[in-house]
Amino acid sequence: MRKEPATFRVNGRTYEVLVEADLTLLDLLRDRLGLTGTKQGCSASGNCGACTVLLDGRPTLACLTLAWTARDCDILTVEGLATPEGLHPLQEAFLEHGAVQCGFCTPGMILTAKALLDENPSPTEEDVRAGLAGNLCRCTGYVKIIDAVMAAADTLRSTRAESEGTAMADAVQPVAERGEDAVRHGSSVGSAGTGPRGGGS
Ligand code: FES
Ligand code: FES
Repeated sequence: MRKEPATFRVNGRTYEVLVEADLTLLDLLRDRLGLTGTKQGCSASGNCGACTVLLDGRPTLACLTLAWTARDCDILTVEGLATPEGLHPLQEAFLEHGAVQCGFCTPGMILTAKALLDENPSPTEEDVRAGLAGNLCRCTGYVKIIDAVMAAADTLRSTRAESEGTAMADAVQPVAERGEDAVRHGSSVGSAGTGPRGGGS
């Protein structure tokens, strides 16, 4: 089949690839780009969710998506989650809560959970269950996975609150400094004799 050149943005990197019209996004990622973190857990029939990646932040089954149609999207796979500072809080939480056994479902679970928490930072357990309904795990059952997602939601909320607090403190400080100047100015006027003490006997 004829191949056409196409450009893809995956995990912040740009790739130039020759692709056939019927190449799936799953095969592009695994076979052409070597990003094997994205798994195929069923007969590429949309039944397991293991191949889930994010296209412009939306969970998408890579086995049912033609690579060609993802050209203009930001594609995020599990390889793009960690930073030089460490694992993503979802990855940490899955490890801490024993939500990973064979790990085959984990990349799809984590990316689906990321999209869920990006949209709803304070989900209930029911929200998480509903959000992950299309992702199957054959090993752990779902309790540990739900616990891990709830724990990651807590971590992400705390981190966000801390960074918002720091940003607010940075914004307030100049005002406080101005206020301090005004107070200093006021007290010097007072010492010149206009205040109750300065104007005494
Ligand atoms: S590989 Fe099972 S849904 Fe895509
Ligand atoms: S950890 Fe094995 S399928 Fe989920």
